[in-house]
Amino acid sequence: MKPVGLILFGAIFFAPLIVTAQSSGFNYDEARVPKYTLPDPLLAADGRAITNSVLWERVRRPEILTLFEDQVYGRAPRGPSGLSYSVIETDQNALDGKATRKQVRIQLTGKRYGPRMDVLIYLPNQVKGPAPLFVGLNFYGNHTIHPDPNIEIPISWCRSNSKAGVVDNRATEKGRGASATRWAVDKILARGYGLATIYYGDIEPDHKDGWKSSLRSYHLAPGRTQPPPEAWGAISAWSWGLSRAMDYFEKDGKIDAHRVAVIGHSRLGKTSLWAGASDERFALVISNDSGCGGAALSRRAFGETVKRINTSFPHWFNDNFNRFNDNEAACPVDQHMLIALMAPRPVYVASAEEDKWADPNGEFLSAKHAGPVYALYGKGGVGVEKHPPVNTPVGDTIGYHYRTGKHDVTDYDWERYLAFADRHFKPAVKGKSNQD
Ligand code: GCU
Repeated sequence: MKPVGLILFGAIFFAPLIVTAQSSGFNYDEARVPKYTLPDPLLAADGRAITNSVLWERVRRPEILTLFEDQVYGRAPRGPSGLSYSVIETDQNALDGKATRKQVRIQLTGKRYGPRMDVLIYLPNQVKGPAPLFVGLNFYGNHTIHPDPNIEIPISWCRSNSKAGVVDNRATEKGRGASATRWAVDKILARGYGLATIYYGDIEPDHKDGWKSSLRSYHLAPGRTQPPPEAWGAISAWSWGLSRAMDYFEKDGKIDAHRVAVIGHSRLGKTSLWAGASDERFALVISNDSGCGGAALSRRAFGETVKRINTSFPHWFNDNFNRFNDNEAACPVDQHMLIALMAPRPVYVASAEEDKWADPNGEFLSAKHAGPVYALYGKGGVGVEKHPPVNTPVGDTIGYHYRTGKHDVTDYDWERYLAFADRHFKPAVKGKSNQD
């Protein structure tokens, strides 16, 4: 790859921050961000300038996608040829009659055995035709997103968390509704959207040996005991699971599969971005506080670094990504190119003031530097040069906000996402847009 234009300097205007150092020994000082040059999304490997959307789609987009597969997230196999699923439960009068609840079990190997995931779906009863939908993975089980007593509790391994009701790495009744503040179910339904969620551990348990009991082990080439260095990591497996949910949405007449927004928080925000990049059926993509390996530019090495993430979570990315530990500049891509892979679809990047570990400014800059690719389609990007102040959403087809508060998903975030989806999806129920 040729070196290109965009020289960026560390001393960039940045709104005052509440300083909550999240890990000592890491840089939280904007003035100490190294000088860096971003790879140009509009310069092809053969030196050609990408000047229109046709060249982008035929030449540069596939090139960048392949680079992310080979160097960062890993190459995932195709989905099974036939989708094997069963609707295990349904209630047309759920949540006091506001919603239809469905729980759908999808066999991930396409056969009637092996790893499976349960998709919990709420659809708004007031919408007569197929409903647009938000889909996102959750951290501790579908039953944690709402106190609804009828939600199935997962049987898969869970990370320890007593507040989420996890006992001996298993989910329990105690976890019902434990994450409800992160899922604005009532608001989403009232605005005419459905919501679908899947426990990410159903797809792959989140620890370094998780792949051995997940579908990744079903895709090892004969004679291999380890995935090869370019093979898919856990983030890629989780996003692959989201694509299987999408396979199901396409078969459900009550869901508008052309208006599905994929959303994720933190490591699951990295996952929603990769899902949106690798599967263009997702019509809108949302990254909530996704940080390193998600929306944040790796070259800034602000907060969590590539080396830190590869050391703490060696199973998330593919093995090739280790080459860029303390060596971010050698990576042929940076995360603005991941955001650019969504073009021309709407994409929203959100940060939080106290979430310095995720590098809010690096998340904003990624969103901003994806703009030239959106411009090829005549679409507006974040629309501002500098990082906006707190609680001041910006952007057209690329949305961005910087909320007060900590690393979390809040009602404020959902209000912005609903307004953004209203603008781009035109849902059946007209909502008051809080963003415009
Ligand atoms: C850790 C990790 C982050 C990740 C976060 C989360 O903080 O370092 O990269 O986003 O966990 O998923 O909660």
